[in-house]
This record gives sequence, structure tokens and C-alpha cells, in this order.
Amino acid sequence: MQIYTSVSNVSNWVGDGCAIAIFSNKTDKTDKTDSPEPLLTPELIALDQQIFAGTLQELITENEFKAESDSNVSSRLAGTTPIRKVLLLGLGDRTKVTAETWRKAAAAAAKWAEQNKCKTLALAFPFTEINKDEFVGTQAIAEGIILSSHKDKRFKSEQKANGSKLEKIEILGTDSEAAKAGILQAQKICSGVILARELVSAPANIITPEALAQSAQAIADNYSTCMSLEVLEKADCEALGMGAFLGVSQASDLPPKFIHLTYRPQTVTKKLGIIGKGVTFDSGGLNIKSGAGSGIEMMKVDMGGAAAMLGAARAIAQIQPEGIEVHFISAVCENMINGNAMHPGDILTASNGKTIEVNNTDAEGRLTLADALVFADKLGLDAIVDLATLTGAIIVSLGSTMAGYWSNSDELAAKIEDAANHAGEKFWRMPLEESYFDKMKSVVADFKNTGSREGGSITAALFLKQFVDKTPAWAHLDVAGPVWTDKESGYTNAGGTGYPVRTLVNLILNF
Ligand code: BES
Ligand code: MN
Ligand code: ZN
Repeated sequence: MQIYTSVSNVSNWVGDGCAIAIFSNKTDKTDKTDSPEPLLTPELIALDQQIFAGTLQELITENEFKAESDSNVSSRLAGTTPIRKVLLLGLGDRTKVTAETWRKAAAAAAKWAEQNKCKTLALAFPFTEINKDEFVGTQAIAEGIILSSHKDKRFKSEQKANGSKLEKIEILGTDSEAAKAGILQAQKICSGVILARELVSAPANIITPEALAQSAQAIADNYSTCMSLEVLEKADCEALGMGAFLGVSQASDLPPKFIHLTYRPQTVTKKLGIIGKGVTFDSGGLNIKSGAGSGIEMMKVDMGGAAAMLGAARAIAQIQPEGIEVHFISAVCENMINGNAMHPGDILTASNGKTIEVNNTDAEGRLTLADALVFADKLGLDAIVDLATLTGAIIVSLGSTMAGYWSNSDELAAKIEDAANHAGEKFWRMPLEESYFDKMKSVVADFKNTGSREGGSITAALFLKQFVDKTPAWAHLDVAGPVWTDKESGYTNAGGTGYPVRTLVNLILNF
């Protein structure tokens, strides 16, 4: 499927489907005017007469269509009209429009075109009225199209064509350089989102630590002018004293891989570390996840942090921003059980010398992240952001569509908020309540790896904080909820969601 910009407008476009997006009337309750303004602009009213024989107004009247967001009405046009089918899409209140509005509307239009067997689709969206910088509008529209039409059929035996005939989508009304560049940017970012989705959706017998390292290798090979990869093997990790990471991996038949992928532009003024939790399967270890509701069958998603880290790397390798060096890091392994498994109560020594009493082998993510944080902390970075499917507790707190985040820097927190808002990915700042660290006190070691159930995602964050020392700013993103979804919504289909690749990319570009 190709996406283009075009100076054409609805009156001279010829093709199968045409999606026209319109704003609703103001939802301001204090506005007591009796008759609301017509939904169609004077241009659309003229067009309706000229091209559609009044169908647009009929659709609005007959369906009592109010153009609220996520609503739409459509019709087949009679006879041999230049346009076969028309869709009226509601955008909601024009004062509340964000990039997310365009993403969702574009996704709805692409899905409608597929269902209606359109080969060609025109989008008449009033984005140039809202986005002075047309780059923002076309980027969002293209993201909505690309992400909603990505369907993962790799593991279906029947590889039937996905039914989509949609070949060409034209964004009408502009052909500016900025508008074209927005589409290109979306294609680069979405290739990263799709990589992350596919890595998360593939099961643990496919995405092993070795396979994740190969995925990093592919990025390094494809973009060798700016990307370089170092993979530390088990012996290298031993030499660095990564006892916490190696403790988690020791009961797996698959060797651990420590990924360090570096993006280096021509000029470097800032350095950022992105660390993803890469547990390719989390059985829980001897504190095994057992019984219905334990979710053990979903624990292939436990490398969602590493998947998003690699997705962001793939996008950044194509965008190639100047000024910022980025270190993409993951300590990758499985959390399994055999005769060599960690015993609950074992004491591990991390690479910064801290000793940890493992009172729960299922709190393994923080053990792998501990050594990754110490490694990153030695690189002289300006900030470290780790992301992890770390706790079930964050899902209890925030539900499954939001991530929680913690930061010791308000400046970095503000950048994360901004990056997430532009991406339309939901994040909520959580407290680093130091007094809760008391729960992690150990009689025999420096501290334990878990506290009590209360505030479980907060104590996990406090644990990670012990492994950041010299780096001036750090943030931890707990993405256990939103990396996966069972049902499609908006431009996200069921399966791995690719969350939060777009937030990470925005953060890197605006750091
Ligand atoms: N990988 C899990 C967290 C998780 C839960 C990810 C649900 C995705 C969906 C993590 O390693 C874990 O097991 N956490 C424990 C921590 C507890 C033992 C302190 C949890 O949340 O129960
Ligand atoms: Mn676990
Ligand atoms: Zn885990």
C-alpha cells in the first residue's frame, strides 16, 4: 500500500473511496444558541451539490450525524460517478483536535476502504487548518493508516491474502515538502513499531535470547553507517560481575545475551541510554507462576521493553538525528527452572557490588535490569530511561492501557510527558516514595528483591534506583499493561501493540 500527498481535491479526484472528515459543533454547554451551525463548510455544501447530488447532507440528516469523534456514516453513490463510495468521518470538536484525532480518523477510513473493497482511497481531512506545520498532520494520518493495516499472519497456516485490495491512499489538499516529509517520518517510525509488535507477538520458542540478539544484529547490519552492536556473552557478563542478571538466566538451557547497540551521529552533544527488560519467557522460576490467572501462558511478552527498545533503534537508525548518541541496552535471558535454578533466599552480587537476597525468583526483571543499569551508568550518559514489563501491580494501579513511570528528574519527566502526549500513548507519573524501601530490608544481604504486595510497582522502582549512581537523570517506565492487547481498538490491532516505541522516538528526537 502506498500513501501519497496530492494537490487534488474532492471535486477533481477519481477513484473508489473518498473519506471526508468534518468537525462537530461546539460541545460548549454554555453556548445556548438554538440552531447549531451546519456541519458542512460552505465549500463542502457546494461540493455536495456539484459531485454528490446532495448525498452528504442526506447522510447527515437521515442518520442524525453529529460528527462526534469516532463516529461515521457512509454511502454508495449511484451510477458511474467519479467517486464510488463516500465516507463522512466525525472529528469531534475542532478545539480539541490532537494528532491522535488524525491517527484514529485515518485508521477508520483505511478500515472502511478495506471492508468496501476499495483499491484507491482519498482522504479529505481539514488538517492544514489545524496543523500550521503540515508535517505533524500527515505524519499522524500516515501512522494511523500504517499501524491499523498491519496484521500479523506469520503463525497462521493458511496464508490467505489479507482481503485488502487497498493499493493507494491519497491525502488531498496539499503537496508541500513538509506534508511529504511527514509521511516519510511515519513510515520510519512505524517500521520500528511493527518490529516491536512482531517481537512481542512471537512466542518464546521463536524469540529466544539468541533471536533477540540477531534482531539487534540485523539493525546494526542494515544501518552500519550509524549503528554498531556489541553482544556480551555469558563469560563476558561473568567477567563484569553481573551476578544478578546471570542468577536469573542460570536455570535456562538457552545462553544469555547482553545487547549493547549504539547509535552514533556525526556530532554528539548529548548521550542517552535506553534499557529494555528482555526476559524472553518468565516462568517465575521456583516461585513459579501457577494456576489459572497466573498468566504464565502470556509471559512471552516479558521482553516487551527490549522489543520497544529495538523498535526505537530501528526508527532512529532511519531518521538519523544529529547531536544525540543513543545506547540501546538489554540483558536478555529466560527465567526458567532446572536443577541449577536459583533457590528462593539465594544471595546474588550485582556488578556494582551490591548484594541481593532473592526472596522471590519471580521478581526477576529487576535483577536483570540491575546489571544493565550499572553497565549504562558507566557510559557517561546524560540520562537513562529503562522500560520494563516489570510488575502486575502497575496493571492493578493503572489498568492495561496506561504505563506508569518514575523519575528522579522533573526535567526528564516533563520530556517523557511531552513525548508521550505527542505519541498518543498514556503515561502516569508515580511516586518514588523512599520510605517504602524499608520493606526491602534484608537480615543477611544489602536488600531483598521484593517487599510486600502493597505498592509493588513502587518498591520495584526503588529497587532499580539502587543501581543508578553517576548518571544525572533516570526514569523507569513500567509497561506491563499496554505492550499487549487482546482486542483491536483505533489503530492498534490485537496482539503486541508496539507500545511505547513512538514515545521513545519522540523522546530521543526532543531530548
Ligand atoms: N513479568 C512479570 C510482570 C508482568 C505481569 C508482566 C503481567 C506482564 C503482565 C514480573 O516479572 C513479575 O512476575 N512480577 C511479580 C513481582 C512480584 C513477585 C513482587 C508480580 O507482578 O507479581
Ligand atoms: Mn516475574
Ligand atoms: Zn518478568
